Amino acid sequence: MSQDDWKREVGEAAVDYVREDSILGVGTGSTVNAFIDALGASGKRLEAAVSSSEATTARLQGLGIDVIELNAAGTLDLYIDGADEFDAHRRLIKGGGAALTREKIVAEASRRFVCIADESKRVGVLGKFPLPVEVIPMARSLVARKLVALGGQPEWREGVVTDNGNLILDVHNLDLVDPLGMERSINDIPGVVCCGLFARRPADTVLVGGPNGLQTL
Ligand code: 5RP
Repeated sequence: MSQDDWKREVGEAAVDYVREDSILGVGTGSTVNAFIDALGASGKRLEAAVSSSEATTARLQGLGIDVIELNAAGTLDLYIDGADEFDAHRRLIKGGGAALTREKIVAEASRRFVCIADESKRVGVLGKFPLPVEVIPMARSLVARKLVALGGQPEWREGVVTDNGNLILDVHNLDLVDPLGMERSINDIPGVVCCGLFARRPADTVLVGGPNGLQTL
């Protein structure tokens, strides 16, 4: 089985968590796309969805699903999203698709966050995947210097502008033994909109697809 098969399997499994006629939070990425396709195929109806990116909004609307503003939805029961890395405590690195800020907002607005991932994303200690940080454009160099002071090697993801009109720095080689402490330190830098560490608000459940079938963390 390939990684795409694992994504499809875990996307299909996530449909079981969705309550008919609810308002669902939906993340971004290829695993989420597999979930959206499975949701469409299942025939399960939603009242509406809150989306974490323009790309996801287009895919949901393509299935005839009504996408509404988070401000109109209030607290959501469930948020489903992928990850670039997860650890045994269900802490995540996200933002490979540059949607981290809206993803963090929708996760925060949800009672339950079910993360869907495949075995290739599992790590003992977060940080093999460079940490995405969304920054206000005028603060790019300042934030980069502060991230170097925190021990990282930031790299500007040139050519990428987020849905919020900001830039992404991918930070290599950060020591993430204390992900919560690092999340706070990065959030404190003026000009940082959001960092891709999900330690303060980890996933509540991680569904993992892999060579030995599905696992629930
Ligand atoms: C987007 C994300 C995605 O969830 C993450 O990049 C995983 O993507 P994929 O499912 O394509 O591997 O955080 O900002």
